[in-house]
Amino acid sequence: MRVLFIGDIVGKGGLRAVSKYVQELSREYRCSFVIANGENMAGGAGLNERGCKELFKQGVNVITSGDHVWDQHGVKNFINGMPNLLRPANLHVGQPGKGYGVYNIPIGGKICVINLMGRVFMKLQGDCPFQLADKIINEVKGKTKTIFVDFHAEATSEKIAMGRYLDGRVTAVLGTHTHTPTADEQIFPKGTAYISDVGMVGSSESILGREIEPVLHRFATGLPKRFYVNDRDVVIHGAIVEFDIKTGLASNIERIKKPVPNED
Ligand SMILES: [Fe+2]
Ligand SMILES: [Fe+2]
Repeated sequence: MRVLFIGDIVGKGGLRAVSKYVQELSREYRCSFVIANGENMAGGAGLNERGCKELFKQGVNVITSGDHVWDQHGVKNFINGMPNLLRPANLHVGQPGKGYGVYNIPIGGKICVINLMGRVFMKLQGDCPFQLADKIINEVKGKTKTIFVDFHAEATSEKIAMGRYLDGRVTAVLGTHTHTPTADEQIFPKGTAYISDVGMVGSSESILGREIEPVLHRFATGLPKRFYVNDRDVVIHGAIVEFDIKTGLASNIERIKKPVPNED
């Protein structure tokens, strides 16, 4: 069985690209389930209800998020009504939403999706993601062996450590957050698929999805300038993980990169 995992969706351009091409990609790679990180869909920061609904309608099964999850105030109001939208599990327990779920795969079987956030170089601080991973894996034991972890983190060291920590206990540990894909996809010795970052769904003519000039201005002068998302020249980045649903272990991971034509 195969799962399509899509990285951070940035702005209108990212949303449009995933909405338009997710079914085609899913068919092309014969995927039975789609997970997408939506944390930057709302103008580059946070999520909106309309965007989430559109993604679900077009074939995304679970939306994960990250440090930008609360950037849009509305999320707090609709996240509890959307069981297929996750926020990092290691945020404060009192916060709305949930960090993992067990879902039915449309062609049969169950999949657990866990959203965790790193703590190295992250402004928004959560509880220990390693301890929490142990706890969640223990809780879902007996329900399914297929477990996908979106590890939303900055430092490659922390991400690789998580992959190695969970090797043989989950199907895949897939990194998000940096918006830049890494070339280190591999199957670890005990059968967990791993990649430090799958990359974003955002503009190739940008700095992490934002227009280049204001970001350059800020770096070069140290002065603040508003950043806008570049919605043109969008590329969909993600990964396909192939696994055995009986064992929950992966046999292959492949990176994907699909440039999307501009609409005008
Ligand atoms: Fe992001
Ligand atoms: Fe992030």
